[in-house]
Amino acid sequence: MSETIHPVTPEWAKRAYIDEAKYNEMYARSIKDPNGFWSEAAKRVDWIKPFTKVENTSFELGKVSIKWFEDGVLNAAYNCIDRHLEKRGDQTAIIWEGDDPSESRHITYRELHDEVCKMANILRLRNVKKGDRVTIYLPMIPEAAYAILACARIGAIHSVVFGGFSPDSIAGRLRDCKSRVVITSDEGLRGGRTIAMKANVDAAIEKVNGEVDWVVVVKRTGGKVNMDPKRDVWYHEAAAVVESECPCEPMNAEDPLFILYTSGSTGQPKGVLHTTAGYLIFVSMTHQYVFDYHDGDIYWCTADVGWVTGHSYILYGPLANGATTMMFEGVPNYPDNSRFWNVIDKHKVNIFYTAPTAIRALMQAGDAPVKKTSRASLRLLGSVGEPINPEAWEWYYRVVGDSRCPVVDTWWQTETGGIMISPLPGAIAQKPGSATRPFFGVVPQIVDADGKVLDGECSGNLCIAKSWPGQVRTVYGDHERFEKTYFSAYKGKYFSGDGCRRDADGYYWITGRVDDVINVSGHRMGTAEVESSLVAHESVSEAAVVGYPHDIKGQGIYAYVTLMAGVEPSEALRKELVAWVRKDIGPIASPDLIQFAPGLPKTRSGKIMRRILRKIAEDEPGSLGDTTTLADPGVVTDLVNNRQNKK
Ligand code: WTA
Repeated sequence: MSETIHPVTPEWAKRAYIDEAKYNEMYARSIKDPNGFWSEAAKRVDWIKPFTKVENTSFELGKVSIKWFEDGVLNAAYNCIDRHLEKRGDQTAIIWEGDDPSESRHITYRELHDEVCKMANILRLRNVKKGDRVTIYLPMIPEAAYAILACARIGAIHSVVFGGFSPDSIAGRLRDCKSRVVITSDEGLRGGRTIAMKANVDAAIEKVNGEVDWVVVVKRTGGKVNMDPKRDVWYHEAAAVVESECPCEPMNAEDPLFILYTSGSTGQPKGVLHTTAGYLIFVSMTHQYVFDYHDGDIYWCTADVGWVTGHSYILYGPLANGATTMMFEGVPNYPDNSRFWNVIDKHKVNIFYTAPTAIRALMQAGDAPVKKTSRASLRLLGSVGEPINPEAWEWYYRVVGDSRCPVVDTWWQTETGGIMISPLPGAIAQKPGSATRPFFGVVPQIVDADGKVLDGECSGNLCIAKSWPGQVRTVYGDHERFEKTYFSAYKGKYFSGDGCRRDADGYYWITGRVDDVINVSGHRMGTAEVESSLVAHESVSEAAVVGYPHDIKGQGIYAYVTLMAGVEPSEALRKELVAWVRKDIGPIASPDLIQFAPGLPKTRSGKIMRRILRKIAEDEPGSLGDTTTLADPGVVTDLVNNRQNKK
């Protein structure tokens, strides 16, 4: 493991909001006096009615309850838009860069206000009220921002579904939160190809027996779609007849802001619920300090708004700070491998935040596509979504940042709302591959399998010992599942599902998931979801899915499939199964490797021994460990001999 250290430069220590001394002082205060620390931090948002209580939280199993600023009243959209109008009405809020490099737009805070109000009025006219769930299935177009903020404005709870999900996945989410309104587009455009957004929504609605009242359709490509005159409305037509003023709904601090479905180790995706004040304060504060955002900076996070990174660090965090934030519709390698860097030059981007999978893919394309661009505007680089290997970190630092820009490797999760462990660029020396030190108010603990808290240098499972304002409040509609998932493994602690090492300097090194969740190109995937999709195919009797190391994606999806009696394995069937999962869940869940296995390694009680399957998928048949407890140790030989990842 690399132990290179990139110290904080004197310029950075001077220019940043937070230097090392300040970090130490503020961190200590945030732990010693959380109420004092967070009530001060809460001044960064505007309140309709100020709070009198700060933290009221319990991690005790059976009584888990998380409330911050609970008697305060505010509105998130007001904080992201209206309060900036006086000073920044003409400042660009959003730079939109289209899939086609010739298309881009600047949207000022005033325009954002008007568009969000129109979208809000479109929803209000269709009887959407505070607390109603609105599903948003949109590509990376400005209307996605309008839709999200319009919900926040009227107090509706948005549930954004990533554009890469299938009709079945959309249907599952519609059903779970009983959402009766969908905002989508005719098609999406990515890397020069169109995506059938409206058709996917139509198919999803059929799967929920038509139980959707309204579909608002944004025209993106002009491609042909079916419109149901009783249910579907064109956004541009609806927007033409509504006002560009709409009052902000006063929201309690703990009123829900959004649901975001995320994969866990068991069952269907969980609806992670975030509420208003704590979330907004946490994402705004982390955005300011981790990215050292100053007025006038151009900030670009390449995530999709369908993921939490897009929610927190394209929209809510930056906009709460009055920033200029970029939304990018396209992909890193279209029209060519210089796209990111050309866009940085085109819009003079200062702060750039992307995922290791993109960095690794571009690294494979060599230095030339980077070096033919200037990137002189860049000041800071960020990474998120999965562990970044030191080689990719160094390439990002040296080639993309010309050894001039600090790299902030930010560890967090859908459930944490915002960044939890990351260097602050003026305060904390970086070690490639380490997310370094906790943000204010965050108390990481590393525990062993028995729940013993480990001290000093150690490795084990990563827990968070105390609540923080951006934390998930519940799993929508299933508080028991919430408690069980996050608070039952280790008493009185939030368990992240990640493994972690702490080094002698107190730096944290995330080692990846320790549960049955895999991280493919920075997308979280439950192995159980892929398994249940595979076994739904008529030829499959049993399936087990594990992750394996993949040079670009971080992890790839490796599926062991046992076929029904009488069905013969074939290349055609392999292809069919990949296409099946792709259609069922979405392209991000496509298995990379499928191994037809006559039998799976099971204990005598019938439990699949995944440890063995992981080792075989990792091409390490020599370290299978003890296989004597298997019901039929013979299956292992066949699995090893037919492994698909042989180097
Ligand atoms: C992983 C994305 C290492 C981790 C914001 C976590 C990381 C999961 C990092 C959450 C990082 C995220 N270093 N691993 N900097 N950032 N992860 O919910 O396994 O999509 O549990 O949130 O991504 O993924 P999610």
